[in-house]
Amino acid sequence: MEHKSVLLTEAIEGLAINTDGIYIDGTFGRGGHSSAILSRLGPNGKLLAIDKDHAAMKIAQEKFGADKRFIFKQGSFAEMHEFAQALFKKPVDGVLLDLGVSSPQLDDPLRGFSFQKDGPLDMRMDQQHGQSAADWLNQAKEEDIAKVLWEYGEERFSRRIAKAITTARASTPFLRTHQLVECIVNAVPRDPHKHPATRSFQAIRIFINRELEDLELGLKAAIESLAIGGRLAVISFHSLEDRIVKQFMNTLAKGDERLRKLPLTDEQLGIRLRLVGKAIKPSSKELAQNVRARSAILRIGEKCR
Ligand SMILES: C[S@@+](CC[C@H](N)C(=O)[O-])C[C@H]1O[C@@H](n2cnc3c(N)ncnc32)[C@H](O)[C@@H]1O
Repeated sequence: MEHKSVLLTEAIEGLAINTDGIYIDGTFGRGGHSSAILSRLGPNGKLLAIDKDHAAMKIAQEKFGADKRFIFKQGSFAEMHEFAQALFKKPVDGVLLDLGVSSPQLDDPLRGFSFQKDGPLDMRMDQQHGQSAADWLNQAKEEDIAKVLWEYGEERFSRRIAKAITTARASTPFLRTHQLVECIVNAVPRDPHKHPATRSFQAIRIFINRELEDLELGLKAAIESLAIGGRLAVISFHSLEDRIVKQFMNTLAKGDERLRKLPLTDEQLGIRLRLVGKAIKPSSKELAQNVRARSAILRIGEKCR
């Protein structure tokens, strides 16, 4: 399936693009948002696009490789400040993060993200680094598996599933997604509303890709990278992500004592964010056209003193 960019117009409007500005798209994906940003930039504007995924890099080269205003870096958006400093040597005017995975990543059985298609149990966004889901599940302690399923999937049968996994792997190590799906389906009661593996797959993906740690680092890097007046737009897809984004933005907006609890330097403590409007959800028209937009939520802030 083609990736349909979520909250495209709303996010681009939220960035209030200045034609000569410098922008960062921290989650290039298939380039839908990047393309819209480039279409609003003049000849002097610049766009740094980042993605962990090697496949995204190939698409970026094919689509925008000839555009002198476009630069792609394969890596985490947590590194955006270093990338931007090295490239531009000055603050940027806007940062966009459209979190999670893209539809082509989910649809490709070779990536192992989907419980609906059999494939290698990988789940890494960056397949060149880190531990695959299979490697982790085959050696992790039962209590650590249960913790991940509970904390990142809010899976109420986390302990039961973790036990089933450690029992199953003792005879046959996990290699394929269908083995994990079968193990989960046999461990928990049927749910008429949700596939029983939904929460576990989400949890393992978040853990394997360090998604929440990267989000916290990425938000801080974005704030460091932005010029005063620069905009940060973040689209999240589940409550764990949105909680982090909301708390980060609200805390910087209030500038209250809770700031001290965030691991910020003294310089960062001087930074404030003005919230731009309320959280935005997709219109009913977008929801009718794109089921993936269902849980999306966009928050926008502007860096100020
Ligand atoms: C929802 S898709 C982005 C879609 C994109 N906005 C578009 O319109 O095509 C999310 C992308 O972010 C990437 N990603 C997720 N976390 C990342 C991180 N910490 N650093 C860099 N890329 C990340 C994923 O590999 C995926 O390609």
